[in-house]
Amino acid sequence: MKIVVVGLGYVGLANAVILAQRHQVVAVDVDARRVEMVNARQSPIEDAELEDYLAHRELDLRAVQASPEAYDGAELVVISTPTNYDPDRNYFDTSTVESVLADVAAAAPDAVVAVKSTIPVGFTDRMHQVHPDLALVFSPEFLREGKALWDNLHPSRIVVGGPEHAAKMFADLLAEGALDEAPVLLTGAKEAEAIKLFANTYLAMRVAYFNELDSYALAHGIDSRQVIEGVGLDPRIGTHYNNPSFGYGGYCLPKDTKQLLANYRDVPQTLIKAIVESNTTRKDVIADDVLRRGPKVVGLFRLAMKEGSDNFRESSIQGVMKRLKAKGIEVLVYEPNLDERRLFNSEVVRDFEEFCERSDLILANRLSPVLAGVEDKVYSRDLFGRD
Ligand SMILES: NC(=O)c1ccc[n+]([C@@H]2O[C@H](COP(=O)([O-])OP(=O)(O)OC[C@H]3O[C@@H](n4cnc5c(N)ncnc54)[C@H](O)[C@@H]3O)[C@@H](O)[C@H]2O)c1
Repeated sequence: MKIVVVGLGYVGLANAVILAQRHQVVAVDVDARRVEMVNARQSPIEDAELEDYLAHRELDLRAVQASPEAYDGAELVVISTPTNYDPDRNYFDTSTVESVLADVAAAAPDAVVAVKSTIPVGFTDRMHQVHPDLALVFSPEFLREGKALWDNLHPSRIVVGGPEHAAKMFADLLAEGALDEAPVLLTGAKEAEAIKLFANTYLAMRVAYFNELDSYALAHGIDSRQVIEGVGLDPRIGTHYNNPSFGYGGYCLPKDTKQLLANYRDVPQTLIKAIVESNTTRKDVIADDVLRRGPKVVGLFRLAMKEGSDNFRESSIQGVMKRLKAKGIEVLVYEPNLDERRLFNSEVVRDFEEFCERSDLILANRLSPVLAGVEDKVYSRDLFGRD
C-alpha cells in the first residue's frame, strides 16, 4: 500500500516505522531538520528501538517536507500532528489535524484516513460532516515517550473507531507490524476517542493519588515508602505505577485530563476536576517543603519527567521552578539536552560539578546514579527508583 504518515514526532515516527516494514511509506513534516534526519536514517528523538530500526532494518520509508502534493496517490493517510490544549478556549486546538484533513480531501479523496493525534470526543464525527467522502477513523495511541516504537511492537491493545471496513483495515496493518499479538477492539469513533481520554485520566489519577498519599506522609512525618508498599500489596491495587513525583507531566497527561474535564461540560462530576487540580496542589506542596529548608540557590537536576526521555514539555519540575522563583529563590538548571544558556531567565549550568557546588539544594524528580556523592544536597520524592 502507499501510505502517508503526517507529523514525525513520537507517534508519527513509531507508526511510520511499523508500517514501513511491509508497505511504501512517505513521512511528512513541516520541520526540515526532522525530514533530513529521517532520510539519513537517524532518529530525531531519543528512543533506542527507533534508532535501531531506522539505522539497521529494511524499511520502505522516505521523508518529505509537508505540501498538499505529498498526498497524491495515497491509499492510507495517518495523522499524528500535535493537538494542544488551549487554556483560553478551554478546548483542544485541533487546527493541525483539520488542515491536513482538508489537504487530503482535495488530493486523495478515496484514501482511508486514520487520526492518531489525541482529539476531543466527537471530533471524528464532526470532521465526517465536513468531509463526508473521506473514510475517517480514530485510533488512540498508547505509547510512552522513550519507548515509542517498543510500545507499538508490543502493543497492549489496538483500538480503532469508525466505519468498520476502514477500521478493520487499519487495525490489521498495526497488528501485522507488531511482534506480539494484541487484543483488537473495533469501536465507534466517539468510543475510541473516549477510551484515550479516560485511559490517560486514570493514569493521572493514579499518579495524583500516590502523590497526595506522599504529601500526607510528608506533613505527618510518616514513612511514605512503607505505606505505599503496604497499600500496593493488595492485588487489586498493585505495586506498579505508584512512585511519588513532583506531579504528573509530559505532553499528554496534563492536556488530556483538562480536555476530558472540558468534555464533561454538561455532565455532573467531581473526580475529573479533582484530578486536574490535584497536580497544582502537589507542586505547591513540594515548593513549600523545599522553601522550609531555607535554600538560597536551588538547582534543578534535569527537566524531563523521567530517565531516558528528552522531552521537557510540561514537566512538573518546571512548575516547582516557577513557584520557587516567585518567592525570590535563585534557580540553576542542569539539563545536558538543552542548548539555551537561560531558561525562564534562570542560568543553565553546563558543568555538573559547578552545578552541584553552587546549589544549596538539588531537586531531582527522578534520581540518577550521577547524583551519588551529593546525596546530602538532593531533594527528591522518588522512593522506588523507577517511573
Ligand atoms: N507523545 C506521546 O506520548 C503521545 C502518546 C499518545 C498520543 N499522543 C498524541 O499524538 C499527537 C502527536 O504527539 P507527538 O508527541 O508525536 O508530537 P510531537 O510534537 O513529538 O510531533 C509532532 C510533529 O508534527 C509536526 N507537525 C506539526 N504541524 C504539522 C503539520 N501541519 N504538518 C506536518 N507536520 C506537522 C511537528 O514538526 C512534529 O515533528 C498529539 O495529539 C499527542 O497528544 C502523543
